[in-house]
Amino acid sequence: MAPHIEENVEELSKTSTSPIRTEGKGAITIRDATVDDAESVAAIGREVFTISFGYSVSEEDLQTYLQETYTEALVCEDIKDPLTHLMVACNADDKVLGFVQLIKGSSEPCVEDAENAIKLQRIFVHHESHGLGIGKLLIKMAEKVASSQGYKTLWLGVFEENIKAQKLYEKSGFIHVGEQDFKLGECVQTDIIMSKTL
Ligand SMILES: CC(C)(COP(=O)(O)OP(=O)(O)OC[C@H]1O[C@@H](n2cnc3c(N)ncnc32)[C@H](O)[C@@H]1OP(=O)(O)O)[C@@H](O)C(=O)NCCC(=O)NCCS
Repeated sequence: MAPHIEENVEELSKTSTSPIRTEGKGAITIRDATVDDAESVAAIGREVFTISFGYSVSEEDLQTYLQETYTEALVCEDIKDPLTHLMVACNADDKVLGFVQLIKGSSEPCVEDAENAIKLQRIFVHHESHGLGIGKLLIKMAEKVASSQGYKTLWLGVFEENIKAQKLYEKSGFIHVGEQDFKLGECVQTDIIMSKTL
């Protein structure tokens, strides 16, 4: 397995959208997505969502959700949407291994009073690259971008059964602030809402 990359992060510049990267063998760069990344992002989204959450919904609801969320065309729309900021984690060959999104203008009752809040959404890392520190790096980049744009609060929703992601968020300084229904086709699940002051 490649070495954990949490340490040794080099900031290429202090501006919000400049990439951050790790050094050495197995180096990872986090940069803004372009439309050329849409196919890779959609493929990772479909695959990782199916492996991670497919068990929790019917096959029909799963396929509907994937078709309504992770097609190349829809990811292209996200990349062009001024309210969405999609960033990708790439290896030294610029192969996309994961992604994260910031969403402006989205809220839930339990974060309505939070100061100047922005949502962190859909942090996904390809299964073959789990546990290497890419998730932590994506969160670090999302925080850097949100802070540089003047946001004071970062919040997110995480499936109540997704303990691994909750541990990652806790380690990154997020705290549990509430719950919210998440509708996936006919299936209504409970999301834990977590928030962090930047
Ligand atoms: C959640 C996810 C993004 C984490 O990405 P990652 O690159 O594997 O995470 P990291 O390597 O940065 O690990 C961060 C923390 O996650 C937890 N973690 C990582 N691998 C783990 C494993 N195999 N088992 C349990 N916890 C694990 C640990 O708490 C770890 O912290 P540590 O290294 O200090 O022990 C990734 O697992 C993923 O894509 N999961 C499926 C999609 C998903 O659940 N997304 C979140 C939706 S809200």
